[in-house]
Amino acid sequence: MKFDFEFYNPTKIFFGRNAMDNLENQLENYGKNILFVYGKASIKKIGLYERVINALKSTGKTVTELSGIKPNPTYTQVLEGARLVRENSIDLILAVGGGSVIDCAKAISVSAFCEGDPWQKYWVDFEPLGNKTVPVGAILTMAGTASEMNAGSVITNEAVMIKEGRVFTPEVNPEFSILNPEYTYTVPKIQMVSGVFDVMSHLLEQYFSGEDDNTTDYIIEGILKSLIHSTRIALENPTDYEARSNIMWCATMALNKITGLSKEQDWLVHGIEHQIGAYTDCPHGVGLAIVSVPYYKHIYKYGLDKFVRFAVNIWNVAAVGLTKEQAALAGIEKMADFIKEMGIPTTLREIGATEDTLEKIAGSIEPGGGYKYVTNAEILEILRECY
Ligand code: NZQ
Ligand code: ZN
Repeated sequence: MKFDFEFYNPTKIFFGRNAMDNLENQLENYGKNILFVYGKASIKKIGLYERVINALKSTGKTVTELSGIKPNPTYTQVLEGARLVRENSIDLILAVGGGSVIDCAKAISVSAFCEGDPWQKYWVDFEPLGNKTVPVGAILTMAGTASEMNAGSVITNEAVMIKEGRVFTPEVNPEFSILNPEYTYTVPKIQMVSGVFDVMSHLLEQYFSGEDDNTTDYIIEGILKSLIHSTRIALENPTDYEARSNIMWCATMALNKITGLSKEQDWLVHGIEHQIGAYTDCPHGVGLAIVSVPYYKHIYKYGLDKFVRFAVNIWNVAAVGLTKEQAALAGIEKMADFIKEMGIPTTLREIGATEDTLEKIAGSIEPGGGYKYVTNAEILEILRECY
């Protein structure tokens, strides 16, 4: 490993079937006023809403609810939450749901006491956090983003058609997160595989960069193998506890900083997906899967050895007798097969993008990349390839 780094992740994780037994104890650490943030109907269907309300009542809390947080949470909802925090002197924002709910809770936390327009300040100008925040706690119901153990917050500003991610300092991490893999049993299949590919993409955005001998790359390979193995089991049997646990922990590990330590990183697949999401509202991981195959075919020659390593170590490609290019491409094809095996759409057309928006989407993306600097014109080419 060539680079110096600092590692700090302050989220306390409670993991397992009995993880919720810790909720009341955690709540005791905060003041009386709780903003309970959740999505649409899922937490009510699985009995989690009632469980949380009972915990809040038994610990004597005063509860304000903010429900209906959308997948791809919107800035309007952030501002609504910020208003509720101020009006109700909120002491803790309790987010119960997937990445969207937790991201929204973090955005509310940083926005409530922000002077000026938080969107402009934090998601456009990327100013350092300069105001008081409110603690966030999370109960996770779907595996994918790692929002439960990071300081990321991805928000869609509908007025300007921009979906932007911001990674804050660790003080914005959830202070505690409760992860019970059983809660993920009811996640619809398309959301489940979207989450799985999101995890894979987080790992690849960090893996496909740099050429040094890096322990982090070995950690990433281990997580990738566990993820692929357990996903196949969970697709066969959605209530396989062991497989669901592995997927959930893979997800958390894939973006809690550990898999990025001492690494240059890419993140352009995410940059492209966020704008596809702004225009189509597709599930995040679905957009990532569609773009990844043409994207990696576009850049693999610039990081050839790493792509060969990916093919051999992750997909068991027998490289003997193949050129490096053939082996690298075989690895990308194996990934494409896995995407199909999971039943994820493979074209932008299938998720409702129209041909006339491709230029707008490409033009709204900040160019960049890892092994190769990818321009807006190349991004448009990639979008056309997967249209
Ligand atoms: O609204 P409800 O009823 O809760 O339904 C949700 C939603 O429709 C449903 N769901 C969640 N848990 C369920 C369930 N349905 C049945 N049973 C359960 N147990 O699943 C749907 C999707 O939920 P969402 O929270 O949107 O999914 P995900 O966790 O994939 O989050 C996606 C968002 O996170 C952002 C994405 O861009 C997207 O906006 N990301 C956040 C990151 C971060 N904080 O670091 C990084 C990621 O790269 C990502 O960009
Ligand atoms: Zn992601």
